[in-house]
Amino acid sequence: MSKEINPWGSDDVTDYEKTAKAFGISPFSGVLKKLKNPHLLMRRCVVFGHRDFDKVLASKDYAMMTGLMPSGKFHLGHKILADQIIYHQKELGAKIFLCVADVEAYNMRLADMKKLRETAIEEYLLNYIALGLEPKNCDFYFQSDRSKERASPYYRLASMAAKKVTMNELAAIYGDLSPGKIMSVMLQVSDILHPQLKEFGGNKNVVVPVGIDQDPHIRLSRDIAARFQKELGFALPGATYHRFIKGLKGGKMSSSDPYSYIALTDDPKEAKKKINKYAFSGGRETIEEHRKHGGNPDIDVSFQYLFTQFEPDDRKIEKLRDDYKSGALLTGELKQILIEKLTAFLEDHQKKREIARKKVDRFLAE
Ligand code: TRP
Repeated sequence: MSKEINPWGSDDVTDYEKTAKAFGISPFSGVLKKLKNPHLLMRRCVVFGHRDFDKVLASKDYAMMTGLMPSGKFHLGHKILADQIIYHQKELGAKIFLCVADVEAYNMRLADMKKLRETAIEEYLLNYIALGLEPKNCDFYFQSDRSKERASPYYRLASMAAKKVTMNELAAIYGDLSPGKIMSVMLQVSDILHPQLKEFGGNKNVVVPVGIDQDPHIRLSRDIAARFQKELGFALPGATYHRFIKGLKGGKMSSSDPYSYIALTDDPKEAKKKINKYAFSGGRETIEEHRKHGGNPDIDVSFQYLFTQFEPDDRKIEKLRDDYKSGALLTGELKQILIEKLTAFLEDHQKKREIARKKVDRFLAE
């Protein structure tokens, strides 16, 4: 990943779009007008870029495809991906292909397969269902275990894709190579391209929602799709790009540090404590200073969580931004607003999560 691509480095949207442009990623604003009811993440430029999503949208039926690494707790950073997928399924009628990258996780992180499967269901699938993912029009599978009658075309494509790429290309993208890495990459290419195989409904446009750091995978899949052009007539997969959600302390949100994230299973009281104690503040040293000079909402984590997930009203969020900037609103007050919204969300979500258990089998059965 290039050093210049540093989401959250600045909240200056035009700058962000400029960076994307250097990589051939088109600004999302170009397709925003074409959406009847764009998602909040799109309206607010958290989803800021795309490749060929305009083409994907222009086609009647399209699929959204993505893969999940089942690593630990499902947190707010994961939620913004789920929110997008559910939006495409519900609002735009997209067919969803959702893959658990258990082979990749096993090969790259030496975890145990059984545990990975449990995490995928307990953490990922249950939260996805509670957030609104429906079993209808959703193909959920494990890389290690593609459902029976569909297994062979999926693994066949992964094997055939190996012919379409050189070691130099892989090394340029993935650095040091190992057999495990190569297997995982070939499966990932098949994840992205196999929805176009006739066994999976045939030619269709596919879009993959990713963080910008994943762009090299997208470019590789597009290159390989082009090299299959004559044989399999694949369309190049499109992609949409989102910014990362900052960790509580302002750094990365990481499953390995419980104080960097709010998990969707966190007890609301625990979540409140985490925010009060850790949420990075864009405020000033003292109240007097803050009142005089104002705070910086772009780096304030509480503001960012409200902006990206918990204050859907555009006018209200802009008022919060203005008040924080002017110094009328203090960090502590901003935290309270977030805590209230987050508590309501977590309580409701955790109830839905228990109800979601009843639906799990409908995703696994096939
Ligand atoms: N490599 C991805 C990650 O690190 C997971 C993944 C596997 C994936 N297959 C995919 C992502 C297909 C997008 C599309 O998270």
